[in-house]
Amino acid sequence: MTKEEWNSLGFAYTRTPYRFVARWADGKWEEGKLTESAEIVLNESAGVLQYAQTCFEGMKAYTAKDGRIVCFRPDLNAERMADSARALAMPAYPEDKFLDAVKQVIAANREFVPPYGTDAALYLRPAMFATGAVLGVKPATEYEFRIFASPVGAYFKGGVRALSLCVSDFDRAAPHGTGNVKAGLNYAMSMRAGAEAHARGFDENLYLDAATRTYVEETGGANFLFVTRDKKLVTPKSATILPSVTRRSLEYVAEHYLHIPAEERPVPFAEVPSFAECGLCGTAAVISPVGKIDDHGKEIVFSDGNPGQVLMKLRETLVGIQHGEIPAPEGWLFYVD
Ligand code: PLP
Ligand code: COI
Repeated sequence: MTKEEWNSLGFAYTRTPYRFVARWADGKWEEGKLTESAEIVLNESAGVLQYAQTCFEGMKAYTAKDGRIVCFRPDLNAERMADSARALAMPAYPEDKFLDAVKQVIAANREFVPPYGTDAALYLRPAMFATGAVLGVKPATEYEFRIFASPVGAYFKGGVRALSLCVSDFDRAAPHGTGNVKAGLNYAMSMRAGAEAHARGFDENLYLDAATRTYVEETGGANFLFVTRDKKLVTPKSATILPSVTRRSLEYVAEHYLHIPAEERPVPFAEVPSFAECGLCGTAAVISPVGKIDDHGKEIVFSDGNPGQVLMKLRETLVGIQHGEIPAPEGWLFYVD
């Protein structure tokens, strides 16, 4: 593919030749191996189909400046996937084996890793699901762990542009529920709200906390970033949002690379109009600036509806670290070869 072709990719599934599969049965994980088969045959009563017993992860592999293929902090995804599995009464996949499988899948599909200097990446999608048949509501006794790969471009179409969001009347996750893990059911919960927001011309929803509807949570697929007028980074702290790898990395980058104080704390929605900048962050979203938030007809505008300067500097620094243009903190880049 040419550089232009890589840069024109959207965020969609493309079948690549190899995926890693390991099965859990009789109380243990089998060794697992690469396979060419993208199709899965399931019993009609599999736990994943009946009761949504499934969780997943998302990571990107790409070519760094020195020509080596890297993946960004996949150890944190391995850990989070184990947390997700435990939250859904599933057996956790061993974290060291997860990292080994990541390497195998990237190496086997290396022709789909974009070259250095494009906006594309090879997106890795680890997923775990209950294959065992259940009828009563209980954890299945058989599972499959799988990692497939798909070349992708930007999650939000149209380059780095300021997004417009709306405050959702739906809730994404319940207190003491599964909001802090990557359970498939959280995303099922957000489908209708997402479709309605898109139909009204918005890019995404802002979810409020389900208990009081007064604090900012996150969107359907990214955490929030705010910048105060005196240039501090503020990120919502909540027990019901996903602990984003990108957000945790950005807090470190803000403080240690850009000397911007970073605060993680509950953010009342009422405080949002006082922020100078707003953005979303995640593996797929990278840092996507937010220009406007519609609160039931009342509009909150950031940086005159344009990408904010502090967030764009943070984006440039994080992307530079990820691509080996700026020295990375120890252990952040996972070399595949
Ligand atoms: N929040 C939700 C609901 C997500 O699905 C994601 C994507 O994984 C994120 C936040 C961002 O997390 P990360 O930076 O680890 O990709
Ligand atoms: C990611 O950023 O990797 C995500 O999983 C978000 C979305 C595609 C579900």
